Amino acid sequence: MKYFDLSGKIAIVTGVLGKLGPVWSGALLEAGAIVVGIDLPGATVSPAFAALQEQYTEKRLCLERGDISDRLQLITISDRLLAQKGTPSIIVNNAGIDQPPGPAITYHLEDIPLEICRQIFEVNILGAFQVIQIFGSPMVKAGKGSIINIGSLYASVSPDQRLYAHLNCEPPFLKPPAYGASKAALVNLTRYFATHWGPFGVRVNTLSPGGVLGGQDETFKQKFSDRVPLGRMAQFNDLLGPLVFLASDASAYVTGIDLKVDGGFTAW
Ligand SMILES: NC(=O)c1ccc[n+]([C@@H]2O[C@H](COP(=O)([O-])OP(=O)(O)OC[C@H]3O[C@@H](n4cnc5c(N)ncnc54)[C@H](O)[C@@H]3O)[C@@H](O)[C@H]2O)c1
Repeated sequence: MKYFDLSGKIAIVTGVLGKLGPVWSGALLEAGAIVVGIDLPGATVSPAFAALQEQYTEKRLCLERGDISDRLQLITISDRLLAQKGTPSIIVNNAGIDQPPGPAITYHLEDIPLEICRQIFEVNILGAFQVIQIFGSPMVKAGKGSIINIGSLYASVSPDQRLYAHLNCEPPFLKPPAYGASKAALVNLTRYFATHWGPFGVRVNTLSPGGVLGGQDETFKQKFSDRVPLGRMAQFNDLLGPLVFLASDASAYVTGIDLKVDGGFTAW
């Protein structure tokens, strides 16, 4: 399966210490890539990331600390990377926030503070934009590369409020409106870069996961699964193949798409 081989390719994964960061990293490492993970200075190393560090050592997996909404921090990391390891071939633009960190307070839709929306846009769209600019430009110079922006099912559809009705909060829990809007913006930003950088051999695609099985309550899991044509939430393993496909030559003629890995959620 040489088309999927990533041996020796340098991959950047942002938000590497979260739930999905180690999943994307593990897939890239297994396919042969060298992974440079980026996460916030204060973020703790998760057990899943620590396990990858132990398995692959510093030679194949390293961690850089930086905030994707801080341009100077990204430039510093990029300069160090270019000097020490070389030009990246793959970017997984994964860092994102659903709600701003901190105690979750619920609001009526009319009362959601603009500041909450701003923080989500700041990371999910402006941060992702900077990551593409700063780490993607050397790819353009090199004439090759694959950028994968991590979207969401909520880039395509609005959250079904009935999934959250059992949570018993007052005001009721709302998935932040800026979340889906920021992911929809990312899908279109993907198309923008795909068309501009296609002539330079750099492909840019979105991978949009559906709801991934994690610490959700049983009622939510059941209600969500009932909404999915394949009848279940996504598991980590469901995400590996699609990511390696987009990162590798297996998708050499694919650019500008939103690959939905959602069990058919958005088909309904
Ligand atoms: N988990 C899901 O069910 C799901 C579904 C669809 C899409 N997604 C998307 O997948 C991506 C990863 O999701 P996750 O579940 O792993 O989220 P997560 O909250 O577990 O992890 C996000 C990571 O990003 C980091 N991060 C946040 N802001 C940052 C910044 N400014 N600079 C650098 N790093 C920053 C956090 O420290 C964290 O480690 C997100 O973009 C999310 O929107 C997740």
